[in-house]
Amino acid sequence: MSFSLKGKTALVTGAGRGIGRAIAIQLADAGASVLVNDIDESVLSETQRALGHHGQAMSAVAGDLTDPSFPDALVTSALDTFGALDIIVNNAGYSWDNVIQKTADEQFQAMLDIHLVVPFRIMRAASSHIRTQAKREIADGRTVMRKVVNITSIAGTDGNPGQAGYSSGKAGVIGLTKTLAKEWGRYNVNVNAVGFGIIETRLVQPLGDRDAHIVMHDRQIGIGVHPSLLESARQRCPLGRLGTPEEAAGAVLFFCSPLSDYVTGEVLICGGGYHF
Ligand SMILES: NC(=O)c1ccc[n+]([C@@H]2O[C@H](COP(=O)([O-])OP(=O)(O)OC[C@H]3O[C@@H](n4cnc5c(N)ncnc54)[C@H](O)[C@@H]3O)[C@@H](O)[C@H]2O)c1
Repeated sequence: MSFSLKGKTALVTGAGRGIGRAIAIQLADAGASVLVNDIDESVLSETQRALGHHGQAMSAVAGDLTDPSFPDALVTSALDTFGALDIIVNNAGYSWDNVIQKTADEQFQAMLDIHLVVPFRIMRAASSHIRTQAKREIADGRTVMRKVVNITSIAGTDGNPGQAGYSSGKAGVIGLTKTLAKEWGRYNVNVNAVGFGIIETRLVQPLGDRDAHIVMHDRQIGIGVHPSLLESARQRCPLGRLGTPEEAAGAVLFFCSPLSDYVTGEVLICGGGYHF
């Protein structure tokens, strides 16, 4: 059995690299028109080039999702570009870790902002369009399913030492997902979350390999995972290895596709069976 997303339009945040880029490519492969966003303009243009080979309409909007006015502008841009918005993947994220006694207010808040407040603002920005369209379709006797996929983590479902802020943001977005599933069920929107285990991207690059940091709001934030932790995860993971961005994107694609039309408010863990 196969499916097509031809005629569907999608927004993927944090699609300049890693899992977000793989999601955008798989959506385009399935026939969707995709608008991609990232704060990092140079990698976003690489994703744009990769999508250019897939023959679907696409667009890219660089910008910082944590700027309070940006989520509205991004959704408006998707609607101006495609005239519709059927699929939203709230994927953008980063980690800013430390044990609680070394976690500043700003650091904790930053993790809530990117992982919880941003998906809230994106969904709120899309709500007028979604409700208006759905009411029209329902009045016409048509059932058109729309899709939201929020990205969470086993740090959110299990907790993880050193990640009070990240885990809280990733746990919070599960509550948001389950609530929106209930609010938007009547509009035929499936709202689900995918939680990843350890997927090989920049976020979990082995410390010491290269200069492992990201720049957020003019701050250099160290990222990466100690190689011994990665090795122990490999050993404890039932599948015996870390995941690839493409495997991670596959779980997201399920929730973007008609295969999940009767699944909503759920969290699918894609982590090779590994838990913290
Ligand atoms: N890699 C893993 O093991 C793992 C595990 C669990 C959850 N996740 C989650 O998966 C998602 C994707 O992460 P990844 O591993 O591909 O990381 P990544 O660093 O490779 O990609 C994340 C992208 O998000 C972008 N981004 C971050 N903040 C942004 C902002 N304010 N505005 C716009 N773009 C922004 C970054 O620039 C980056 O390109 C994140 O939500 C992450 O928390 C990843």
